[in-house]
Amino acid sequence: MTPIVQNGIPAQGMPKFTLSGADVAAIAAWLHSQPLSDRGAPSTLDILVGNAKEGEAYFNGAGHCTQCHSVTGDLAGIGARYDPKTIQNRIVSGGSSRGFGRRPAGPAPPKVPPTTVTVTLLSGQTITGDLDHISAFVVALREPDGTYRSFPRYDSIPKVVVTNPLQWHIDMLPKWRDSDIHSLTAYLVTLK
Ligand code: HEC
Repeated sequence: MTPIVQNGIPAQGMPKFTLSGADVAAIAAWLHSQPLSDRGAPSTLDILVGNAKEGEAYFNGAGHCTQCHSVTGDLAGIGARYDPKTIQNRIVSGGSSRGFGRRPAGPAPPKVPPTTVTVTLLSGQTITGDLDHISAFVVALREPDGTYRSFPRYDSIPKVVVTNPLQWHIDMLPKWRDSDIHSLTAYLVTLK
């Protein structure tokens, strides 16, 4: 695990992490302490323990999922696309279908927000738009009216703030209740 974590897999979009060998060993020890059934082939019996009706109510209500998703839009047929274990993982992680700052070919999902970026110039002027490209040397964006703009970067100038559309899923990580994940999984599996 250590070289993969420390070098990343740039071709597949996994960044490298500056973790010490001891930290990686601690993570590996934790992973190995997980029950074997969680690491084997997907087990439908283990995953489908929730109540689909409760999942539907949570999706449309307390879960606020409809703020960004639609079961007749971007999530239509998700139960036919993925097995239950993958669906559960994607509820938790938000999936990895879209690379950083890039959209997959074809129409964008209806409501899922894009990655946006705000550039603050030395003059104080701010420019906000959908992120097109970012590297250590340049940041490029498309303004709401379609104008494409790019700015060279020198260290921290201009100031660049990227908004990750998956932030909601990231913020939810410590807050999920098992029962919500189970009922949501049971519900999304029925969307064939
Ligand atoms: C503030 C916006 C937002 C909210 C609220 C939100 N999500 Fe997401 N979700 C996203 C984004 C962005 C993605 C990534 C989609 C993409 O890359 O096209 C995503 C991806 C997913 C995916 C993976 C879809 C796929 O095809 O791989 C699932 C499943 C999912 N969300 C379920 C949920 C559920 C269930 C809720 C409510 C409990 C929820 N989301 C609430 C923004 C949101």
